[in-house]
Amino acid sequence: MASNHAQPEAVGQGGALWSGRFGADGGADPLFRAVNDSLPIDWRLVQDDIAGSVAWVRALARAGVVTRDEADALALALGDLADEAASLLHPPTDSGAEDVHTWVEQRLTEVLRDRGHGELGKKLHTGRSRNDQVATDLRLWLQREAGELVELTEDVQRALIAQAEAHAGTPFPGYTHLQRAQPVTFGHWCLAYVEMLGRDAGRLRDAAARADECPLGCGALAGTAYPIDRDALADDLGFARPSANSLDAISDRDPVIELVGALACLAAHLSRLAEDLLCYVSSEFGLVECDDGVSSGSSLMPQKRNPDALELIRGKAGVLIGLHVTIITTVKGLPLSYNKDLQEDKAVLFRACDESRLLLRLASRVVNGLSVDGPAALAAAEGGYASATDLADELVAVGVPFREAHELSASAVREAIDRGVALDGLDEDFLRTLSPSLDAAGVLGRLTVAAGLEKRAALGGTAPARVAEAGRLWSDRLGPSDADRDRSQEPGGAS
Ligand code: ARG
Repeated sequence: MASNHAQPEAVGQGGALWSGRFGADGGADPLFRAVNDSLPIDWRLVQDDIAGSVAWVRALARAGVVTRDEADALALALGDLADEAASLLHPPTDSGAEDVHTWVEQRLTEVLRDRGHGELGKKLHTGRSRNDQVATDLRLWLQREAGELVELTEDVQRALIAQAEAHAGTPFPGYTHLQRAQPVTFGHWCLAYVEMLGRDAGRLRDAAARADECPLGCGALAGTAYPIDRDALADDLGFARPSANSLDAISDRDPVIELVGALACLAAHLSRLAEDLLCYVSSEFGLVECDDGVSSGSSLMPQKRNPDALELIRGKAGVLIGLHVTIITTVKGLPLSYNKDLQEDKAVLFRACDESRLLLRLASRVVNGLSVDGPAALAAAEGGYASATDLADELVAVGVPFREAHELSASAVREAIDRGVALDGLDEDFLRTLSPSLDAAGVLGRLTVAAGLEKRAALGGTAPARVAEAGRLWSDRLGPSDADRDRSQEPGGAS
């Protein structure tokens, strides 16, 4: 058994925080340690772990468990440790610490010993467990990260809105079943994704809001036996409230499930956007171009210009969906409360956030560099008899029931195909065979793409004026990006 005053190196199991229960001989099998040790991964929590420790020291002092002087010395050393941790280029794996919590406590004890405070560092963990600690660190990290992911999502929205404003009136073929269906404007297509990403940003915010509960003070599973003021502790760490049930607080990982789920949905949306664009940029469609900076060539075929960026965006959706499945599967079979399986949560969370950041930045970059081939898009919007619905509507306007009008319009499409012309290339005599009351000359003038777009002016429709209005509403709602705001506040920057 290690004595209270043993140096960390001298205790059994290589200085582990839990070594007292074990004999001094043997020590942990290196193979076990290779799987068990999590420092290289959870090192990213170090600043949150230290912030949580400072708040815990204050809570212990308020509860009379440590003296004010002890709390001050502990908090001061923890502050210095934060600087030391920030200066390290790599996780300090040579410390032998099992995880980030162990490192903080071990280093703190060393620092305080060097400062003549004896074994004061070892008081830090009074009434606390790594279980409530890691759950707290994770929520602190996740909430901050969610805020930054929202910002990056809004940047993609801003890029799409800029394209929508430039192309509020640019005719573009709209598809169902990947068959030309009705003309829309390219701006309308852009704003469809702005809506989706808006809901994704909402989901990220919701995940952060539901994670806004402080598990610290829940102990290992049953709550802490010290008279800790958990409201003050939660407040100290910037949480909205303390979590209400200790078993739940330390053992659920639904903040990770929810955030990564929101990211999987976001990635699925960006994957659809990429898939649309992959069609549009192909030589078969030839409607849109990506700029050179996000395209690559072929090592063999000199003529090739490949839309790799779009394929990578589509590919990342598979990664994020996989990560969501990973974490929800990890949690699903676990008995309450803490189980070591939960340690897998951080690798999932960090990878999902890292991949999403890259994905979002790449999506903004790709959208900014898109150019639409206006004449080709108009020709495609005109082709495919996309105004057949409008012809049916014209028949309805002169009293033909819609079902019949639909059939008559289809017969006009067949006629036009036979003659090799567009619908507005049919003649007035033919139109009058559909219904004698039809103002044939007027109708032919109204079967144009422009007229079809103009008509769809009800809320949510593709009429250019509606698209321009929707784009304005969104840019007012989002405001400038953080980067633009900073730039405009620089001396000499636009105000
Ligand atoms: N590294 C652990 C994790 O991430 C910290 C909690 C350890 N708790 C325990 N009872 N072994 O889950």
